[in-house]
Amino acid sequence: MSSKEAKEAIKRMPWPVTLIGAAHEGRYNVMTASWVSQVSFNPLMVMVSIAPERYTYELIQKSGEFVVSILAKEQVQVANFCGSRSGKETDKIEELKLKTQPGKVVKVPLLQDCIANLECKVVATQEAGDHVIFIGEVVAGSVVREDAIPLLMLNWKPGSFVPL
Ligand SMILES: Cc1cc2nc3c(=O)[nH]c(=O)nc-3n(C[C@H](O)[C@H](O)[C@H](O)COP(=O)(O)O)c2cc1C
Repeated sequence: MSSKEAKEAIKRMPWPVTLIGAAHEGRYNVMTASWVSQVSFNPLMVMVSIAPERYTYELIQKSGEFVVSILAKEQVQVANFCGSRSGKETDKIEELKLKTQPGKVVKVPLLQDCIANLECKVVATQEAGDHVIFIGEVVAGSVVREDAIPLLMLNWKPGSFVPL
């Protein structure tokens, strides 16, 4: 069991704020995720850590694919909405009227309103405590907004870390 101080300490680490898209057999969903990182240059790989109770977890587990969409600093409300409702009950894409386009390689749609999309195929899965890490090879990528500033999170609050 981690100490209270350790939990306070880890909240000082800034994280990116992304949307993870996943699709399987006609079902499509996005969820907010901050535990996302590049893990290899060659081949290009990223990881995302997802709790098994998420709807997104089921879709990635079944399809073996996901898309990381990097959010911009003015997308705090999108991050909070997609991070507080489950696709099990809410069609988040429809509610937020998110515009999508087909992926170049994966079957998961790409978001038109974000900084960049990374199309990933799962190459490894690792349990990590109460989460599961999906490691994905980045099989395609596209920059949507050249000059936008990314949304970062500190202390569990998206937008609370402002880059210089
Ligand atoms: C800023 C933010 C970051 C989050 N990061 C993660 C994360 O990295 N992993 C995770 O499993 N849940 C994370 N969550 C929680 C999920 O986004 C949330 O449980 C969501 O409702 C799950 O949606 P789903 O059931 O449609 O997949 C985060 C929430 C917020 C607001």
